[in-house]
Amino acid sequence: MAHNGANMYELDSSTFNKETFLREYWQKKPVIIRQAFKNFVAPIEADEVAGLAGMEEVQSRLVYRDGEKWLAEFGPFEDFERLGDKNWSLIVQALDNWSEESAQMVEPFRFIPNWRLDDLMVSFATPGGGVGPHIDWYDVFICQGTGVRNWRVGDKGGHTEFAAHAALLHCEDFEPIIDTKVYPGDILYIPPGFPHDGVTIEDSLSFSVGFRTDSTTSLVSGLADFLIDEELATEQIEDPQRLATDNSGAISDADYEMIKQQFQQLIDNKEIMQKFAGVFLSEPKHELDLVENQEPFSNVEISELLSSNNLMRLGGLKAFYFDSTLNDGVFYVKGEQVEFEPQLAPMVKCLCDNVIVTPAMVSDYVDNEAFISFLGELLDAGTWYFAE
Ligand code: SIN
Ligand code: CO
Repeated sequence: MAHNGANMYELDSSTFNKETFLREYWQKKPVIIRQAFKNFVAPIEADEVAGLAGMEEVQSRLVYRDGEKWLAEFGPFEDFERLGDKNWSLIVQALDNWSEESAQMVEPFRFIPNWRLDDLMVSFATPGGGVGPHIDWYDVFICQGTGVRNWRVGDKGGHTEFAAHAALLHCEDFEPIIDTKVYPGDILYIPPGFPHDGVTIEDSLSFSVGFRTDSTTSLVSGLADFLIDEELATEQIEDPQRLATDNSGAISDADYEMIKQQFQQLIDNKEIMQKFAGVFLSEPKHELDLVENQEPFSNVEISELLSSNNLMRLGGLKAFYFDSTLNDGVFYVKGEQVEFEPQLAPMVKCLCDNVIVTPAMVSDYVDNEAFISFLGELLDAGTWYFAE
């Protein structure tokens, strides 16, 4: 926790304009942004990535080739010697949960809301290494950290996918619309559905900031689980006005309308649906590295620390509000709905909007008892902590 909260990564506004990017490329077409980061320095080294891949709680994957054959294994991994010095790559998911320095790489992309963020992934690859040609269903900013890689990206649509290995979905080779080498500080943005293949030229670290949305299937499945847990939406259709039918086999248009209305009433119930969305979207998708054994702070200590140190949100933690729930004293964190005194709304908004909360941002609240005790609970939960 040595990080002092200074923002280490900033997109160079002369090479990357977020409004232009959103208008021209976001969800539309891939693009290479040369030197999007000024004087880029990778936040983590290959050895540290290997160290993380040795941890049980961290999701990691090795992808390598044996001649023409593709192979994939899931971590933890102890040793990489057996792989030699080419044709393999090591991928670690949710790096933002495990490396505070690396989590900083997400910050330049905060012009896209946090509920859209999937995770920060890192891949270390040796010459010839990569995961092979494939298609992803998320938007990704692949930031070249160290070394050189050649990226080929094809156009969307009409690509056959197949399992190159049980854990490796590939697509057929494609005609590239981008075929170029990337260097440290360059970003390759790829929207969902565009086939791509990165082959390493020189030992390389690349950092992928991924954004995604859920399919309707997964939302509906999440909604069903939520309603069962909360014992909500148990109403049944009632039809006391029913008239006799001559067609007992028919589900009449009028009856279908009742069934549709049953769904509609649920969807129109803002209280239930917002609670579901807040809880569902803030649910951690990867294990969090909760800050344990934070010394229990006294209220006086919290007050003092707020005036002197940055307050940090745990890497990968999702915390959200709706404008309407903020005024009712409700926000969502780590898959739960949490209540607070409505007078704290500006502070809760601040905690959800900023990974790093500086003393200046909270100066009006350092002596507010309600805020101090609210914060005490977050510190106890290990979801926020003070930077040193
Ligand atoms: C990689 O860095 O090897 C994979 C990144 C991707 O294609 O999404
Ligand atoms: Co990909």
